[in-house]
Amino acid sequence: MEVDVMNHFGILKRFSDVPYFENEKSKKLMDDLHFSIRLGGIVVVTGLSCSGKTTLLDKTLKKLQEEKNIIVCRSLSTEKQAVSIPLIFSAFFSDLVKEKNIGSYMKAEKKERKLIELLNKHKKNLVLLIDDAHELNTQTFIGLKKIRELDKDTEGKITFILVGQPKLSNELNHPKNEEIGARSHMFSVLENKAKYCEWIIKQAVSENIKPKDILNQDAIELPGESLLTPLQVIKYLSSSLQKAYMIGVKPVTKEIVQSVLVPEINGLDAKLARNGYTNRYLCDLLNSKNNELRLFLKGQLVGSKAQEFNQEILKLGIS
Ligand SMILES: Nc1ncnc2c1ncn2[C@@H]1O[C@H](COP(=O)(O)OP(=O)(O)O)[C@@H](O)[C@H]1O
Ligand SMILES: [Mg+2]
Repeated sequence: MEVDVMNHFGILKRFSDVPYFENEKSKKLMDDLHFSIRLGGIVVVTGLSCSGKTTLLDKTLKKLQEEKNIIVCRSLSTEKQAVSIPLIFSAFFSDLVKEKNIGSYMKAEKKERKLIELLNKHKKNLVLLIDDAHELNTQTFIGLKKIRELDKDTEGKITFILVGQPKLSNELNHPKNEEIGARSHMFSVLENKAKYCEWIIKQAVSENIKPKDILNQDAIELPGESLLTPLQVIKYLSSSLQKAYMIGVKPVTKEIVQSVLVPEINGLDAKLARNGYTNRYLCDLLNSKNNELRLFLKGQLVGSKAQEFNQEILKLGIS
């Protein structure tokens, strides 16, 4: 948002710089998550892209790190499909072993023994966070379950936190992954958007300015009704103020907000992407070519093929 627009509406802070939004539901989610991570096991956190998963986990892990009996490690690999079991071990060892040459522990049997030794030595719970876990494959899921079982007789326990888009819970509920799915503790990031728009404005303006001085009440409610994530609310709120400034309207009307909301925002392709489904995955799932998939996503595929595709997409919980 431009400085002129901010001055015009009396906005003191960028919307992206306002503090973390919390309500009773999100506080409870954080408390339950915190408790579950301390108990050990496989903890799964899912939510749409930009729904606040990483932010929530950062806050929860910061709180956990202040507790003395927990060590938090992170898997830093950016190629999730390629996250292999040796990489998981090396993520633990990179954070726990002081010697530079961790390669010598990575041979078969040795790495398992080393991890057991570290659990007994530190007598602390080890937590490993794997972000974007919706991209992991079945082999890795099985490997994680096996590593988890190494803590059976050790003093410290292992917790894996798998964070990902809703595809992750669909994958874990699939029979091919039921070994790990049935043993996971699942959490879903709640949508806090109902009062989010009004709350952001209050945080960004001085005390003598009210949200209704900036946007009409129906305009304030609109982003919360149509948008799904905090990031989207920030983006469309800023664009609405920018447009209202350009055409000299204050407070911002519902029509202005409507005009900047991109119609495609709730289109099928956007929904699939937010849920973690790439075109490559969808082509495999639907046994289709990329061209055919693109026609389908644009609503231009007709006949029995389109019906067949629609049914498969519905099975993913997306309508
Ligand atoms: N509760 C919240 N309050 C304020 N901003 C939030 C909140 N949750 C997320 N955000 C903002 O939304 C953006 C996306 O959040 P992020 O945690 O990266 O989402 P995800 O990991 O689900 O993709 C970030 O810029 C973050 O600052
Ligand atoms: Mg994230």
